[in-house]
Amino acid sequence: MTGFVSFVGSGPGDPELLTLKAVDRLKRADAVLFDDLSSGPILSHAGPGADLIGVGKRAGRPSPRQHHVSRLLVDYAADGGRVVRLKGGDGGLFGRLEEELVALREAGIPYEIVPGVPSAVAAAAAAGIPLTRRLTARRVQFVTGHDVTGTLPTDIDIGALADPAACTVVYMGKRTFPDLAETLMARGLPPETPAMLAEGVSTEHQRITRSTVGALADSLREAPGDLPALIFYGPLADA
Ligand SMILES: C[S@@+](CC[C@H](N)C(=O)[O-])C[C@H]1O[C@@H](n2cnc3c(N)ncnc32)[C@H](O)[C@@H]1O
Repeated sequence: MTGFVSFVGSGPGDPELLTLKAVDRLKRADAVLFDDLSSGPILSHAGPGADLIGVGKRAGRPSPRQHHVSRLLVDYAADGGRVVRLKGGDGGLFGRLEEELVALREAGIPYEIVPGVPSAVAAAAAAGIPLTRRLTARRVQFVTGHDVTGTLPTDIDIGALADPAACTVVYMGKRTFPDLAETLMARGLPPETPAMLAEGVSTEHQRITRSTVGALADSLREAPGDLPALIFYGPLADA
C-alpha cells in the first residue's frame, strides 16, 4: 500500500499561526519530517506515536543533503504511512518544495500541499505595516539573498531591486545585504531609503528594527547575528 504525503506550511514559528488543516494533518501523521524553523511547540500537535525526524538545513551548519531528504520522504511514504513534510512559513517560498515534489511524482506517491503563513507576511503584521501601499508601493517582491554557494546571486534583476516604488523583502540575506545595498545604491537607490530588519518573527526572540538601507548595511556588516531574519526596504509605512 502506498502512503500519502502532506506538505504542510508551518508558518513563521508561532503555533497559533498554524492553519486548522495543518493541525489536522499533524495529528493524523505517522511520521513528520521537519525543518529547523518549523520545530518547537508546533510539533506538539503530532500524535504521541508519530516519528519526528529533523531534516533541517540552517545556513552555515552541516545538514542533510536535499537528495537524502527526498529519499527519506519517499521511503517513509512507500511504507504506506501518512507523512507530513513540515516546512517553515509557506513551503512554496524558498522552501525547496519542487525537488521533493519531483521525487514523489517519480515514485508515484500521491501528495497534497497545505499552504502556510509566509514569514514575510507575518513580519509585516508584527511590525504593524502593510506590504503594499496605495500609490507608493504597488509592487511587492520577495528575493533570496543567497544562492546555493551562500553568496549573493549574480543573476538577480538589480534594476527591479533598485526600484524605489516597490516594497522588497530579502530572505536569507543578512550576510549578503551589505554587498546588495552597495550595488543598489550604485544603481541610484538612495541610502536613506527606509529599511527594516525583522528577526525571529513570531518567536520569543522577535526583534523588529527600523533603519535605512545604508545604515542597515553597515550594522549587518558589523554584526549579522544568528536569528533567522528578513530585510524589508522601500516605501515602508510608518509603524
Ligand atoms: C529556507 S527560507 C524559508 C522561507 C519560508 N518558506 C517562508 O515562507 O517564510 C528561510 C528564511 O526565511 C526567513 N524566515 C523564516 N522564518 C522566519 C522568522 N520566523 N523570522 C524571520 N525570518 C524568517 C529567513 O530569511 C530565513 O533565513
